[in-house]
Amino acid sequence: MIHRVGLSLILATSLMPLCSASAAQGQEKYEPTLASLDSHPLPQWYAGAKLGIFIHWGLYSVPGWAPLSHPEHDFANADYIKNDPYAEWYLNAMRIPGSPTQAYHIEHYGADFRYYDFAPIFNRESKKWNPDAWAKIFHDAGARYVVLTSKHHEGFTLWPSTTVNPNPSIPLNERHAERDIVGELTAAVRREEMKMGLYYSGGYDWTFDSGPIEAAADYQSVKPESQAYGDYAFAQIHELINRYHPALLWNDIDWPKTGRPMQVEADYYNAVPDGVVDDRFGIQHADFTSPEYQKLEKIEPKKWEECRGLGRSFGYNRAEGEPETIAPADLIALLVDIVSKNGNLLLDVGPEDDGTIPPVQMERLKALGAWLSQNGEAIYDTVPWERAVGKTVEGDDLRFTRKGNDLYATILGTPKARTATMESLTARPGMQVTMLGDATPLNTKSAGGNLQVALPEHLPGNYAYVLKLAGYAQ
Ligand code: GLC
Repeated sequence: MIHRVGLSLILATSLMPLCSASAAQGQEKYEPTLASLDSHPLPQWYAGAKLGIFIHWGLYSVPGWAPLSHPEHDFANADYIKNDPYAEWYLNAMRIPGSPTQAYHIEHYGADFRYYDFAPIFNRESKKWNPDAWAKIFHDAGARYVVLTSKHHEGFTLWPSTTVNPNPSIPLNERHAERDIVGELTAAVRREEMKMGLYYSGGYDWTFDSGPIEAAADYQSVKPESQAYGDYAFAQIHELINRYHPALLWNDIDWPKTGRPMQVEADYYNAVPDGVVDDRFGIQHADFTSPEYQKLEKIEPKKWEECRGLGRSFGYNRAEGEPETIAPADLIALLVDIVSKNGNLLLDVGPEDDGTIPPVQMERLKALGAWLSQNGEAIYDTVPWERAVGKTVEGDDLRFTRKGNDLYATILGTPKARTATMESLTARPGMQVTMLGDATPLNTKSAGGNLQVALPEHLPGNYAYVLKLAGYAQ
């Protein structure tokens, strides 16, 4: 599968060595060079956080629609692009002749209704939004950080940017939200003691290019690279850094060379030394890689963060319902799988224009929060063990994580039997085995090179069950 950002960059950054000992101490002042940026140590808060909530909210949330014909993300395929399931790509899709989004737009709004005519509707509806309610929902879902789209490809900003868009045809009221959504959410998220990060689309800004993207080759050719755009993006991201001090600077697609990406990152680290940057700035430095709707098979030494929607889209798609949304058991298995391999999950929520989180998404957030409140010990602040993946003789799938001397073996799904005989593990002296959610010690025995655990009579919780092997990983 092709990633829109470019697989080569992801692979290159994933092969980079972990920080050297001297680099781990960080620097006093970062310079716009690779060597200096690479000396930035991965902050412990980010390595241990494991779960973040991504939010795609913008003008596209007003129509909130995308076709469902392509369940798999096949970014290079022209038919996929024409039927893009990413609802935040509405402006691109509505410009493709004969696309379902174009037909939807004409049917619901009329051929003369411009995309930026959604701005007054978004401004009116988003007045109903309550940032504290969101922050509480994300906190209760178990997230330790939040990342908001401050500007998506459409170019509309969720803060009152003072950088003037040089395109004279864009009236003031269509350039940015009336509320300072970035500022209000940042404050609310911090009140809930989570970290606040900002997404910015540096590689695409559809107020600057001719578009639309209709085929894979266009992904590259529509990137604005003019000096005017480079200066604009540079000024806007500095506004974000200086005003909001985001804990993550999550850039998308690429960064214009005219906008000095290394200078941006150096300035960011100097302002927020324990902040992190992703791998989409078009340079060979990143604190983490950012696979999108992609599974990694093994433990990656380089920190990574998987991003995906609860459904098939990042932005709100009113056509999605139960069948398109990840099932709670699969969501929990996904999180456990990612964490066992050194990743974080950046799970995206697509709110409606008035800030309502669709009920089908709310349900997943609640299930996740309930599971984590019982089992978070096996997730937060853990590190990968020697192996990520295991099996039981009874046929269960296992994922391993470690914290100090304790090993956690999570059974994905309901155990198939009353025992879990974990392959290639042995009983160790002094080890004590329990299931999280139940303090009763469990009987264990070694059986043919495997470790057999007698499971509790009544399983606590649901979806996935964690065996804690205290003292195993000495
Ligand atoms: C992609 C998409 C975009 C989404 C993002 C999230 O590159 O273009 O719509 O915001 O990545 O990872």
